[in-house]
Formats: sequence, C-alpha cells, structure tokens
Amino acid sequence: MKKIAVVGTGYVGLVTGVGLSHIGHEVTCLDVDHEKIDLLQKGRSPIYEVSLEPMIQENQKQKRLSFTSKYEDIQESEIILIAVGTPQHPDGSANLTYIYEAAEAIAQTINQEVTVVVKSTVPVGTCQNVKNYIQAKTPFPIQMVSNPEFLREGNALKDLFEGDRIVIGSDDQKAIQTVMEMYAPFDIPMMTTDLASAEMIKYASNAFLATKISFINEISSICEKVGANVEAVAKGMGMDRRIGSSFLQAGIGYGGSCFPKDTKALVQMAGNVEHQFDLLESVIHVNNKQQNKIVDQMKERCGSLVGKRITILGLAFKPGTDDLREAASLVILDRLLREGAFITAYDPVAMPRAKEKFPAVTFASNVKEALAGADLAAIVTEWEEFKELPLHFYDELMNEAILFDGRNCYSLDEVREQNMEYYSVGRPAIE
Ligand code: UGA
Repeated sequence: MKKIAVVGTGYVGLVTGVGLSHIGHEVTCLDVDHEKIDLLQKGRSPIYEVSLEPMIQENQKQKRLSFTSKYEDIQESEIILIAVGTPQHPDGSANLTYIYEAAEAIAQTINQEVTVVVKSTVPVGTCQNVKNYIQAKTPFPIQMVSNPEFLREGNALKDLFEGDRIVIGSDDQKAIQTVMEMYAPFDIPMMTTDLASAEMIKYASNAFLATKISFINEISSICEKVGANVEAVAKGMGMDRRIGSSFLQAGIGYGGSCFPKDTKALVQMAGNVEHQFDLLESVIHVNNKQQNKIVDQMKERCGSLVGKRITILGLAFKPGTDDLREAASLVILDRLLREGAFITAYDPVAMPRAKEKFPAVTFASNVKEALAGADLAAIVTEWEEFKELPLHFYDELMNEAILFDGRNCYSLDEVREQNMEYYSVGRPAIE
C-alpha cells in the first residue's frame, strides 16, 4: 500500500482521495481552503455526492484518510496527485494559476524522490512544463504522470470503482509502474501512453461526448419540424454498436464544470497551433442555441412573457448534484427575468446555491408549491422526483397546464391521457 497525497479537494481530488484510501492506501488530502478542510476533518463532505460522506467517515476511522492545509504534512508521500481546478480565462483558455501554485508548493516541500500525477484537466504540454518547473526548483528527482479523470458528477464513486479505463501517460516507465500499482485493486483496464497523448485523451473524450449531445439536439430540432420522434431515432441509431446508445439523449443542452469549459479550451488550444476547430465551434454554438430554446418556445406560444407566472423545475446541470456551473437553468432564469416574467423555482438540492445568484426568483419548498398558480412550467433537470410526479397535478395546480419538458421526462402516451399542453424536445407537441 502506498503513501499518497492529493492536492485539491474538489470533486476530482476528494472522490479520488477517498476512493484510494478505501482500497487501502494511506491518503492525505490537502487543500488551501481552511473551511473545507475543517469540514472534512469533521467527516463532512463539502460537495453533494451519493455515498461520499459515509465513505469519508469510514476511512477516517480506519486511519487511512486524513485532511490538511499544510504542505509539510505531505512531505513523506511517494505519490502526489494534483487535482486542483483549472477554471477558464475569459477567452476560454485554461487558467493554470492553481496548478503552478501547487507545483511551487510541492517543489518547496518535498525531501525525497516523488511521482507527481496530474489529474486536473490541463492543455497538452502542461505536464511537461510543470515537471520542468518543479525540477528546476528541487534537487530531488521528479517523475511526471498525466492521469486524466473521467468521473461524472453524481456518479463519481461508481465511475471511480467501475470506470471503463484508466489512462496513464508518462515518459518514465518507473512512474507508469508506480501508478499502475496504485490503481491495481480497482481492476479497471489501464492504458499507458506518453504525457501529451494522455492530456489530449481527456479533451478529445469530453469534446466527442459534447459533439454527440449537440448532434442529437440538432436532430431533435429537425424531428420537431418533420414529425419524427427523436427518442426512436436515438434508439435506432444507438443499436449500431459503432455509434453506441449513450449520450444521445436530446435535451436542454449540456452544462456543468467540464463540457462547456473543455470544449472552449480545446478550440483555443487548436487556435494556438493555427488550426480552426470548425466542428467543435459548431458544437458549442448549437449548445448555446439549445439552452435558449425553451424560452424561445415559450415566447412563440404566449407572445409576451411579461407578468407570466413561470415555474422552473430543476436547476442543477443534471440530477444527482447541486452543481449549477454552466447549467441551462442559469441562462433560462436570466432570460425569463429580462422578459418580465415572475419566476418560482424548485430543485431538490441546488436551491441554496441558486438563491445567492437570483434574489428576484421565488424558491418553493416542494414541487406542488412550485406549480401552484403557475401559467407555464418548465422541466430543466430530470430529477426522479419530477419523473414520478403524477401528471394530473399539473392540471390541478396550475392556472392552465402548459408544460415545456426540456428533458423528455414523460411518455407521450401518458401525457395524451391528461388535460395538458405539452412541448418536449424532438417529439410531437401535444396541444
Ligand atoms: C463529464 C464526463 O461525462 C466525464 O467523463 C468527465 O470526467 C467529466 O465531464 C469531467 O471532465 O470532469 P459531468 O460533467 O459530470 O461529466 O456530467 P455528464 O453526465 O457527462 O453530463 C454533462 C451534461 O451533458 C449534463 O448537462 C447532461 O444533462 C448533458 N447530457 C448528457 C445530455 O444533455 N444528454 C446526454 O445524452 C448526456
């Protein structure tokens, strides 16, 4: 078992650190945010992720997992994982400030040979630069590994323990061996390559998944016009194993902390080597269009939205998380407020975060309260709670049951049995 440090306790760092301790390693998670560390030391998780908190507590009890803000506490680690954020600059490129702050602190701290593993999503070439940066400041040998992560929020532990692959990129065989040993108990296929290719695998994977989503969203818009049903189309396409059925769910556009940021960063990266990534630029453009579409549809249906009472169901960028970063809900709330509508919103977990951003929105404490007296309603996040809501409530609670379902939560057959007007994505409207 290895002595491991994880720098950065965001989604990636925390989930990875907890998971590695769970398989028996001795893990110290470090973050410069004292409040976060205080919380974690008490066994509380700063993020909402299914099963994470009990797993933190269990491994703390076993003395395999600890949290600190001090770099001297990770001095004896043989492996240091860097999992700090790489937010975007206004031009879309990745901001590497936190990476270099961590690199600087590592260089000042270590007193033995160490394998540095970059898990953060960083532009191709960064790992080599970080290695040179640290090595120039310390006499102790550094081995550098790029080990991108493929966790999904809301599914992170499952993805960690049952992922499709672990990508390990390095020009140093010994470092590859060390990281393979670290992950061995997970029993997941490992793929080894060089540093730059590993870095690119992460961007290319996210960009490809985003492309699938924008593609099916474009198909859905055509389906609406020609009377086809995008769900049937996606099913038929997905049965071809070359295409695959996942990430073909038409909806309100992709959000979150990864796809929007990584697609823009890859366009930037391509631009830096004088390559215009036309395809990916279109993917981003289509997504912006898709996030705005539901408001356009509401205006088309009602004319003016001034004074309309509109209920928004779901705020998180997807179910299973309270994360609002780049969520379609932000675009929708912002536009509806500018259109002069009165908005009531409800989300089972993301409301505390949304309240800070939207003081003009009323937040309801449950779905029924949110729908009461509404002129229009929209489903923005496909929480189970909404999928399971008996449809007659829309008619009973709203002024008039007019629902814009941005996530295709209901079957058209069940909607047809109700007294409601229903607009979904890529399927015939029910009026
Ligand atoms: C994504 C990738 O799926 C992970 O593999 C990757 O590790 C992660 O980014 C990252 O780079 O850190 P995540 O952003 O957590 O994970 O969420 P996804 O489940 O991929 O969903 C992203 C967005 O796409 C959501 O807004 C979701 O609603 C949307 N989506 C997804 C669709 O609209 N349709 C689909 O068929 C699938």
